[in-house]
Amino acid sequence: MQLPTDFQRLRRLRRSAGIRSMVRETELRVQDLIYPLFAAHGTGVKEEIHSMPGVYHFSIDTLRKEIQAISEIGVNSVILFGVPAHKDEHSSEAYAEEGIVQQAIRAVKEENPEMVVVTDVCLCAYNPHGHCGIVHGGQILNDPTLELLAKTAVSHAQAGADIIAPSDMMDGRIAAIRAGLDQHGYLDLPIMSYSVKYASSFYGPFRDAAHSAPSFGDRKTYQMDPANVREAMREAMADVEEGADFLMVKPAMAYMDIIRQLRDNFDLPIVSYNVSGEYAMVKAAAQNGWVDEQRIVMELLTGLKRAGSDLIITYYAKDVAGWLNEQSR
Ligand code: PBG
Repeated sequence: MQLPTDFQRLRRLRRSAGIRSMVRETELRVQDLIYPLFAAHGTGVKEEIHSMPGVYHFSIDTLRKEIQAISEIGVNSVILFGVPAHKDEHSSEAYAEEGIVQQAIRAVKEENPEMVVVTDVCLCAYNPHGHCGIVHGGQILNDPTLELLAKTAVSHAQAGADIIAPSDMMDGRIAAIRAGLDQHGYLDLPIMSYSVKYASSFYGPFRDAAHSAPSFGDRKTYQMDPANVREAMREAMADVEEGADFLMVKPAMAYMDIIRQLRDNFDLPIVSYNVSGEYAMVKAAAQNGWVDEQRIVMELLTGLKRAGSDLIITYYAKDVAGWLNEQSR
């Protein structure tokens, strides 16, 4: 049989590892990763979160050790979450000078001034009802919440945060936080908005970790419906107009189309949050020996970059930093 020989031979560029590395279009770098850390009260605490093996609650002293360890392997950014000692109706530990996150920010900066410290701004872990805003008569109030969010952001700035990341999904929070920061002289402090945050089942393990599950109802009156994409563009547009410096999509894996659309429609850096449930699924399969953890994680994170993420928040950041170092040796 005479075959035509003039068809496209795409396999030519896959012939060797050397050629493949020359034509690779997407590369995951350690600088692309932001490592989430949970700060808790006490001393000597390093307590593993049941539904997130390999992720811990750290007291300030053990957090310092973790910062040293990740600094050595090249992780250059963290996002901090707090597990407060007391919850109250005013979410007062969220903006207290000696709040757990404020202490953690100062500790991280003391250990490594170059570490880029992002702080999650929200109220859900700090009040007894577990909602991201002020609750009155079973409703989550939008405008009264903005003042507390701005106050929390300013207190993080005063403690030395580098980037403020509001995750509450109240309308107008970017404008309110920007105004609060500017009034206190923090004109240069960037805001990383959780712009497109869905009401997702993938946050379950995080809520175990942060003790922040809502005590009544759910978050569907403020977080987005997973079925919507046009609305995601409206959320992102509103945040851009209000002064956001980064746009985030959360969760990541089931929302890659949203990441791509944001990338194509906006020129701001796009961040995706590879959330707790996504981490837990991969970890569970890996611990059962059903998947190769390193290869699966690298493939997933490369996929998130290919979809258009500039930065990825992932509980795997420390592992990935180690793997990338090994590869480059
Ligand atoms: C706080 C917040 C949540 C996450 C980040 N910030 C939980 C939620 O909205 O219920 C989830 C992160 C994760 O699942 O890894 N509002």
